[in-house]
Amino acid sequence: MMEDKIDDKLDVVIVGGLGHVGLPLGIAFADKGLKVCLCDIDKKNADLVKKGVMPFIEYGAEPILKKVIKNGKLTVSLDISAISKAQYVVIAIGTPVDEYLNPKTRQFLEFFDDIKKYLNEDQIIIIRSTVYPHTCQQILNLLNGKGQISYCPERIVQGYAIKELKELPQIVAGLSDKAVEEASKLFSMVSLKIIRTSMGEAELVKLFSNAWRYIQFAVANQFYMISHNFGVDYDKVRNAMREGYERAHSLPSAGFAAGPCLLKDTMQLSAFNINNFLLGHAAMMINEGLPNFIVEDLRKKHDLSKTKIGILGMTFKADIDDIRDSLSFKLGKILRFYGAKIFYSDEYAKNPDFVSKEELITNSDVIIVAVPHSAYKGLVIPQDKEVIDLWKVTKKE
Ligand SMILES: NC(=O)c1ccc[n+]([C@@H]2O[C@H](COP(=O)([O-])OP(=O)(O)OC[C@H]3O[C@@H](n4cnc5c(N)ncnc54)[C@H](O)[C@@H]3O)[C@@H](O)[C@H]2O)c1
Repeated sequence: MMEDKIDDKLDVVIVGGLGHVGLPLGIAFADKGLKVCLCDIDKKNADLVKKGVMPFIEYGAEPILKKVIKNGKLTVSLDISAISKAQYVVIAIGTPVDEYLNPKTRQFLEFFDDIKKYLNEDQIIIIRSTVYPHTCQQILNLLNGKGQISYCPERIVQGYAIKELKELPQIVAGLSDKAVEEASKLFSMVSLKIIRTSMGEAELVKLFSNAWRYIQFAVANQFYMISHNFGVDYDKVRNAMREGYERAHSLPSAGFAAGPCLLKDTMQLSAFNINNFLLGHAAMMINEGLPNFIVEDLRKKHDLSKTKIGILGMTFKADIDDIRDSLSFKLGKILRFYGAKIFYSDEYAKNPDFVSKEELITNSDVIIVAVPHSAYKGLVIPQDKEVIDLWKVTKKE
């Protein structure tokens, strides 16, 4: 394949630059006039981005992408050696957990072993991926003086990076004064405020933030299940709790809590704490158990082998097109196990097996709203259909 010509000098290379974290960040830096190269292994997304097309939903990003591709501030490369040309090397590749919920740290460290030959001691290496604590120190040991290591975790809600990059303070930590100074300088170009912390603090800020959200959702989901079993509407309880009562304001509504980060980072924290994180594990059991709770409740009323069930919303949260680790699929799988005929629909995620929301409503006996996409607000469901709508976005005819 013919590679694009990359300038001899670049300000920033983002490795994993075509992903959900790397791409909006690259666009934001390029929009500030920096020469940015997005380095990745995904050829399909590379072709799209070079044409100024966003490969996934990121509100407000595409017009800026088109501009920075056109003015040459943003380039794309599938050649990892591009990092040798950059002053700042931002790492935004995935940091998953394995099938036993242990962080795959070796894979991440091996990646640094592979890129070591392209780095020099003056480069600023910014870890943007979420890492298992101690990882940055291990990277420093592995690189043996090549590069200054900083950790600048991302805390943005997926889909809204262009807005939140400007609004949220950026945590910056580093393993040398130069790493902290330089990473702060770079992020000051796009962030409202820089908060400097020690490395250990930064590593925990990121994991605690996601575990905190995950536990909050678990509290709401547990309250929902208790209310439902008691014959009481959780939403009414929640509204009454919050009205004029500031201390209860942060109680979320119930709903599927999933996606590629919250559970994974809660489990990373647990692994780090020698598997001693009871609250995190309890949250996992509750959040991952919500689809089972819904199915068990349906089984009390229906012979599922004779029931047609439609699931509205297949992404892991509202108004995005990302289906990674969405609980809608788990719900469908359990229902199918009991013999139900299942229909899937989504407004953003495309799949030839999905049907339109109208077709799903017509063909289903029971409709489950799994994601509160804006397109479902006010959606009218015929009287003769049963609806499970935790967010109460739909309306009965
Ligand atoms: N998605 C989020 O909202 C979010 C928020 C905060 C933190 N994070 C963290 O950021 C990191 C990335 O997450 P993401 O959601 O952007 O993942 P992603 O899968 O969307 O993006 C990762 C990108 O890295 C690329 N990649 C993988 N291996 C590579 C390699 N060896 N060389 C070059 N490119 C490579 C992939 O092709 C992909 O484009 C993870 O650590 C995640 O936990 C994600």
